[in-house]
This record gives sequence, C-alpha cells and structure tokens, in this order.
Amino acid sequence: MKSTVSLLLATAGLAYAQLDIPALLAQAVPALPTDPRFRDYRPPGKNDVRSPCPGLNSLANHGFLNRNGKNITVPQLIVGGAQGINIGPDFMAVVGAAGLLSSPNPAGGSFDLNNLDRHNFPIEHDVSISRQDHYFGNWYDFNQRVWTGTLSYFKGLTRTTTPTASKARYARVQYCETNNPECTYGPRQFLFSSGETGLYVQILSSPLVNSAPISYVRSLFEKQKLPFDLGWRPSAVPITFATLGEYVVELFAVNPDRAAEGIDVVQDSYAATFVDLVGGASALRNLTNGISDYLDIPGL
Ligand code: HEM
Ligand SMILES: [Mg+2]
Repeated sequence: MKSTVSLLLATAGLAYAQLDIPALLAQAVPALPTDPRFRDYRPPGKNDVRSPCPGLNSLANHGFLNRNGKNITVPQLIVGGAQGINIGPDFMAVVGAAGLLSSPNPAGGSFDLNNLDRHNFPIEHDVSISRQDHYFGNWYDFNQRVWTGTLSYFKGLTRTTTPTASKARYARVQYCETNNPECTYGPRQFLFSSGETGLYVQILSSPLVNSAPISYVRSLFEKQKLPFDLGWRPSAVPITFATLGEYVVELFAVNPDRAAEGIDVVQDSYAATFVDLVGGASALRNLTNGISDYLDIPGL
C-alpha cells in the first residue's frame, strides 16, 4: 500500500499544476438556495457511472460533480461538496485522495465513481447499511432488503437519534459476523462505517443538531437525491473531520456492545485512519497537489 503511494509521487502533481489553491478554496462555500442544481435532479443515464457512496452519487445526480460520474478530481470534490452539502475541504481532500487510490491511474489525478467499487480497497467495506456485503453478491448498488432492515431501527421516529443510528449501524456488524464467512470487520471498518453514519446524519441536519429527518435520509439513500424539495438546506455549519470525529465518538459511546469493537476511539481517530490509508502527510500533499497544506487536518 505504502509502495503504491510512493510510486505515485514522481508523477502526481502534474494533473492540475496550474491550480490557484486560495481561489479554489474561496469557491468552497454552500451555493445559494436559488442555485438551479438543487432542483435539477437527474438519475444516471446508461453511460453514466455511480459508486457505493450515496453522498457522491447524489452530488453527481445534481450536477455538483460530473453527471457522468467520470474524471472526478480532488478540486472538483472540494468545490462540489462544499457548494452542494457544505462538507469541508479537509474531509473532501483527504477522502478524495483515498478515492484516487482506487483508480487505475491515481497519478492522473482523477477517478471514476465506479472505481470506488473495489472491495476492501481502499474504502469499500462490509457492514454497509444500504448495500449487501461482498460475499452475498452485488455490493455496490443500493439494496432494498438491506435498507428495509436498517430503516426498521427508526420505526415510529420522524428523525434519527444517536442511539438509533448507532444500533442500525451495529446491527449490520452483527449480521456480518454471524452470517458472512468472509466478513471483514476491524477498527478501520468501525471508523469508516461510523463516519458514514455521521455523514448522513450531519449532512442532512447539522453538526449542531445530529438528528436527521427520516424522509431526508430516505431521499439520500433511496433516490440518491438531495432532499431540497422536502425542505432540506445545506447545514449552515460545515461538516468536517472534527465534527464527524466527535460524532463517531458519540456513536461509539452509546453502543452497549462497544467493548466488542476492540478499539479506543478519540475525536481524531477518524481522520487519522484516512491519513494513514493514503500514506501520510507527504503522500497526501502529492495526491492533492499541495491542497492539503492549506487545510487544517486533524492529527497532521
Ligand atoms: C471524496 C469523498 C468520498 C468518497 C471517496 C466516498 C466513498 C465512499 C465509499 C467507497 C463508500 C462505500 C463504503 C461501504 O462499503 O459502505 C461510501 C459509503 C458512504 N458514503 Fe461516501 N464517500 C465520499 C464522500 C461522502 C460524502 C460527502 C457523503 C455525504 C453524505 C458520503 C456518505 C456516505 C454514506 C452514508 C455511506 C454509507 C453507505 C452504506 O453504508 O450503505 N460520502 N463512500
Ligand atoms: Mg460496502
């Protein structure tokens, strides 16, 4: 893994050498509610590609990322993510760098959304709340049966709560460990899947609220659509590694079975596992063409 990254170093950085990083970061703010992209939802056409990630798929379905799902760059992730859902450049740069590693040519500086399908490399994992485990078949498309099971944990509620979101996630871990002979689950998968729960909760409410309306959650997962027409607006507070890391700790704290996770979690654990995955600070600098130096990344 580290050697793959070091092989990149010689060539990475050429892809967008002319980048004006301060100008790029200045564009990374939520779009006005009048931005036509919020209402312009178009599901993918037959030549378009999508990923196991409902967040990126939704951004592409609204044109905040390339609608065909191809040639996605870190600058595009930073700007599109902030404009569409107020996700912070710190998160998009680091997770985008991890995404680049899944492409056949990371040094080219872009990936296609379906490159992210690769099982266990670097992000896709078992225990997804809306996709099957790899062992059971198609592990990248939305799966109604899995999703119905997840939704059952929110029965009778109009909004998620931290204990119900935590239970819905952990139920998939228990299912995997009991029924999947190839179940891959450890500290990294704990952090990624908890972070993904944090993502849908915070993007659809706010890091100050941490409780998302179930109708918004269903729109994001079932239609891969931003629930603008249901009244959602981007959080006024950006969703960052700091806010997600804090929520990951909260999800862990309310899990009565937390000892079984075999991990000690602190706020920086979530960011640290991604930074480690991309190969540390200098690999991150190369993969992001220097953008990471301008960002406040926890633990760096
Ligand atoms: C560069 C940025 C991102 C990359 C490369 C990425 C990639 C991925 C990948 C590969 C998965 C599959 C993990 C699995 O097997 O469950 C995933 C899941 C997920 N992503 Fe993203 N993602 C990114 C940003 C986001 C954003 C901005 C959101 C905001 C809502 C988001 C929400 C989610 C959620 C909720 C899941 C879990 C899906 C499930 O468990 O079924 N992601 N992401
Ligand atoms: Mg998965």
